[in-house]
Amino acid sequence: MRLLLTAGPTREAIDPVRFLTNRSSGKMGYAIAEAAVGRGHEVILVSGPVNLEPPSGLVDFASVESAREMFEAVRDRIGECDAAIFCAAVADYRPVKIHEEKIKKSDDSLTLELEKTEDILGSARSIFGFHGVLVGFAAETHNLEEFAWAKLEKKGCDLLVANDVSRRDIGFDSDENEVRLFFHNGRRKTMPANSKAAIGEKLVEIIEALVKGAGADASPSDLFADR
Ligand code: CTP
Repeated sequence: MRLLLTAGPTREAIDPVRFLTNRSSGKMGYAIAEAAVGRGHEVILVSGPVNLEPPSGLVDFASVESAREMFEAVRDRIGECDAAIFCAAVADYRPVKIHEEKIKKSDDSLTLELEKTEDILGSARSIFGFHGVLVGFAAETHNLEEFAWAKLEKKGCDLLVANDVSRRDIGFDSDENEVRLFFHNGRRKTMPANSKAAIGEKLVEIIEALVKGAGADASPSDLFADR
């Protein structure tokens, strides 16, 4: 199958030397890309700035900085894909104005006006017209389950992968993760804490099954079983 992934953070420029960003390392997205290449799939990776080598064997790699660049790179590549997996931690807001010159220190406080960035996952169905299997990620600090179901519905996802970023031992920048999966048909599954490589493998298996149309009702496989 042909698979598109977004990974890493975005950077939203304030002036030539400063930007807004977040703590995403890109490790989860890169682990999924690596697992998918290993299982023989055609993988397109659209990545924000990370300290990771792209896996070898990708059919396409787009290195981007801002949410707008990521939006355009995805828009131009998603067409022929069977599945799209949005792991990137896209900045939700960017400065309205990018200063052409470095902002000098003057007043005691400085106010930045921010505007919403493009919602890339939210554009997959409505703007890109994507009909393949759509997988979103959600990093939450509270009310994880409630937000996960709402996000799945709102963005037209087949699967939403949620993790609790209030925990310090897993998630952001860690090599380990613990995720909870929420499927479009109401099923859910907790994947126990494991390396991001192992979780990546399992997620690719599940996405393969979703692409084949097995959906979350697949049986007797344990792929979708509640723990
Ligand atoms: N995402 C995206 N484009 C954005 C923001 C998010 O594609 N501008 C994708 C992420 O890659 C992830 C999913 O949307 O797959 C969830 O992002 P999140 O920021 O948690 O969702 P929001 O709807 O922005 O909700 P929140 O209020 O929790 O930020």
